[in-house]
Amino acid sequence: MKEPGKSSGMQFHRRAFLQGSGAVAAATAISGGAAEAATKAARVVRSKTKITLHVNGADHEVEVEPRETLLEVLRYQLDLTAAKPVSSDGSSGASTVLVDGKPMTASTLLALACRGKKIETCEAVSSHHPDKVCEAFVKHDSLQCGFCTPGFVVAVRAFLKRHPNATREQIRQGLNGNLCRCGTYADMIEAVTDLVKGGGNG
Ligand code: FES
Repeated sequence: MKEPGKSSGMQFHRRAFLQGSGAVAAATAISGGAAEAATKAARVVRSKTKITLHVNGADHEVEVEPRETLLEVLRYQLDLTAAKPVSSDGSSGASTVLVDGKPMTASTLLALACRGKKIETCEAVSSHHPDKVCEAFVKHDSLQCGFCTPGFVVAVRAFLKRHPNATREQIRQGLNGNLCRCGTYADMIEAVTDLVKGGGNG
């Protein structure tokens, strides 16, 4: 009687066959130049590169992997923690920084792609004493836990530069890229409206 899983005339194990054929298929797929290219690519993905980032008016030399985001480098290499890791897709706006003057979410930018760009974080904003946006936020009690606040402050400053005479509706629309889980939107709109009325753009 035949043993299950064995063919007559040779020792045939189904599992061994599947493993063997898988290995052959993989070897065929990456044979020759393709295998070499795959090895090189793996090496590139793993390696770190030394780059210089221009952040808050100074050059910083950092070592980054290709997959690292600007947010990770700011927080874990440069110790600039105002931009927050809330959403890797940038939907919360909590990691908003200025890149060449434009508000962008650091969580969606690769650090390598930021070489040669001028990056400003909320730490640079808070070095202006007194800062009008921060003052307006305090005056209108526009924060609770404050986790979203640095992102909002950077976004408000950029918004007011482009729209110094914004209406209430424009302010509402202009800041819709940032989310506040504590729901202090009404107070933030008041703060920004105050800044527009006062002619202050932070
Ligand atoms: S103040 Fe808490 S998330 Fe905005």
